[in-house]
Amino acid sequence: MEKDFRYVWHPFTQMQDYQEQEPLIVERGEGVMLYDVDGRAYYDSVASIWTNTLGHAHPALTEAIVKQAQLVAHSTLLGHANVPSILLAEQIVDIAPQGLSHVFFCDSGAEAVEIALKMAYQYWQLKGRPEKKRFVKFVEAYHGDTIGAVSVGAIDRFHETYRDMLFETFKVPYPYCYRCPLSLSPRTCAHACMDELKTLLAEKADAIAGVILEPVQGSSGIIPMPDGYLREIEALCKEHGVLLIVDEVATGFGRTGEMFASDHDGVRPDLMTIGKGLTGGYLPVAAALATDEIYEAFLGTYDSNKTFYHGHTFTGNQLGCAVALENLRLFKEERVIEHVQDVATFVAERLEKFWDLPAVGDIRQKGLFVGIELVRDRETREPFAFEERIGWHVGNRCREYGMIMRPLGSVCLFIPPLIVTKEQAGAMLDILYRSIEEETSARVGGTLR
Ligand code: LLP
Repeated sequence: MEKDFRYVWHPFTQMQDYQEQEPLIVERGEGVMLYDVDGRAYYDSVASIWTNTLGHAHPALTEAIVKQAQLVAHSTLLGHANVPSILLAEQIVDIAPQGLSHVFFCDSGAEAVEIALKMAYQYWQLKGRPEKKRFVKFVEAYHGDTIGAVSVGAIDRFHETYRDMLFETFKVPYPYCYRCPLSLSPRTCAHACMDELKTLLAEKADAIAGVILEPVQGSSGIIPMPDGYLREIEALCKEHGVLLIVDEVATGFGRTGEMFASDHDGVRPDLMTIGKGLTGGYLPVAAALATDEIYEAFLGTYDSNKTFYHGHTFTGNQLGCAVALENLRLFKEERVIEHVQDVATFVAERLEKFWDLPAVGDIRQKGLFVGIELVRDRETREPFAFEERIGWHVGNRCREYGMIMRPLGSVCLFIPPLIVTKEQAGAMLDILYRSIEEETSARVGGTLR
């Protein structure tokens, strides 16, 4: 603990108040559990920043890494190839939405986003349309924390500081139905919040390279798009000749109950980013996927300068690709997607009970991607003040009861490893319920639903 405080600067963490509490130092894991250095057990209710699919220390995943390490751990993909990355690319294309037939490997979700943006930008230059260079983003979007990804992000608290470093974008409303940007009812709105995007594309498509979005917004508080919404956006992009970039870093690999969130609507993006669950949450491998149309635009002689100039040192790392291959093999063998759908139905039933808590304003679920938005007053939907750190307090209480739950502001999360059983999910939700109840009972002025 002393050395952690002295040497380690933690990500997305205010280090001053981090040091006011005893840190949770993880030593090992097994299935949905993590254990700290004192041997205390915790449910991993947020799958280690939403990455873990088949559980911690899965023997087959461990073995895949060990076997690969005995052959070679890393050699470069820059101009050369390696076996696991070839086999993995084939598997990814096999399960990806139709039309995405080329895989560009990288190390993180944010890098995958950088790649997709650079590909879209360069694509239009190669097509002789260099004026198509701006991107459309959504209110409260999060695509990672590198500068390009921050430029297409819109969570002011994270992004405001860097404003002068960012490139210009167009911003349109996201369908956050609980706090509808147009104050309409989701039953009668006919997706009216999409009108801004429609108008923007109708007027400015000549200046626009692509639209980038999360099919379920993650970091803004787990906000699924209404059914059919993504398909309408896809149609608009096609109509106006603008590339659709779907960021599936958080939603990919079964998280929402289909292999990819795009699959719910049968959407075929032009570019798609993946990461997190690809390796089962074991190693940092991510990728950007592209269509033939985009890939082929980059082909040319050496001196044509159509090369895609991007590639990090550890791109296509063999250990990462080997564990990803095993993860995807087990996905099929163990019918993980069906399991997610089954457990998600059980979770939906259990979540109903949370309405008994007056501080629960909204419950949002897509598969095993769940956000519970806490409010000061259910009737008026008055939020908790940022300084109250309500989610943080609930997270601390969960920790006392043996569960790790990293919230997003006032939104409590339930994003367990995909292999969670109903019994384990029930036990985790009991802890969450109790923690919300204890932390909010004295603070809420609202009435019951
Ligand atoms: N795209 C999406 C949709 C994501 O949710 C993320 C990360 C990324 C891209 C970037 O992937 P990365 O570079 O991290 O591999 N800031 C929040 C957690 C962010 C959740 C991670 N999502 C927090 O403080 O809890």
